[in-house]
Amino acid sequence: MSNNKIERLKQVVRNIPDFPIEGIQFKDVTPLFQFSENLKDLTDVLSSLYKDKGITKVVGIESRGFIMGPILALNLDAGFVPIRKPGKLPAETIEENYEKEYGFDTIQIHKDSLSADDVVLIHDDLLATGGTMHAAYNLVKRMGVKKIYINFIIELELLKGRSLFPDDVEIETLLKYD
Ligand code: PRP
Ligand code: MG
Repeated sequence: MSNNKIERLKQVVRNIPDFPIEGIQFKDVTPLFQFSENLKDLTDVLSSLYKDKGITKVVGIESRGFIMGPILALNLDAGFVPIRKPGKLPAETIEENYEKEYGFDTIQIHKDSLSADDVVLIHDDLLATGGTMHAAYNLVKRMGVKKIYINFIIELELLKGRSLFPDDVEIETLLKYD
């Protein structure tokens, strides 16, 4: 993996003060996708992490996990499966509830979207408290797949989201911030 590319990509992420509310420093990933050179480098470094893992399905979490998720799936010769907010998926679903900063939220996946033969990569843009990904991990685990990998573009290390997951789950993050 190219450390130069990763360092360069880290410079591209924008810090937006006071968004969405005062006191929050928002990590804006949109410049990573906006310019072809960034998008290519991001695609290369993320894909190279999983080239030899035998991934059969990439699961993306609505909505920012829907940007790189399908690109990764194409690059890895895998299918793409969406995890969505409630009431959006039309066929039979299973769901998980999880705690957010204010109140609770729910995510859903189609019941027939994964099977026991699948090696799954769950992708989202950012690991903060880990609540969203933990719920996604529980959903995918309930479907009895062969193996689960977890990937984010950004990790906010101070929030210790990693601690929610068992030690044997491989979690890769590209750009780490305090
Ligand atoms: C953001 C981000 C992750 C999640 C991380 O999504 O895209 O999905 O929060 O936070 P956590 O680790 O504390 O759970 P958000 O729910 O804001 O929605 P969006 O992707 O639709 O913008
Ligand atoms: Mg999100």
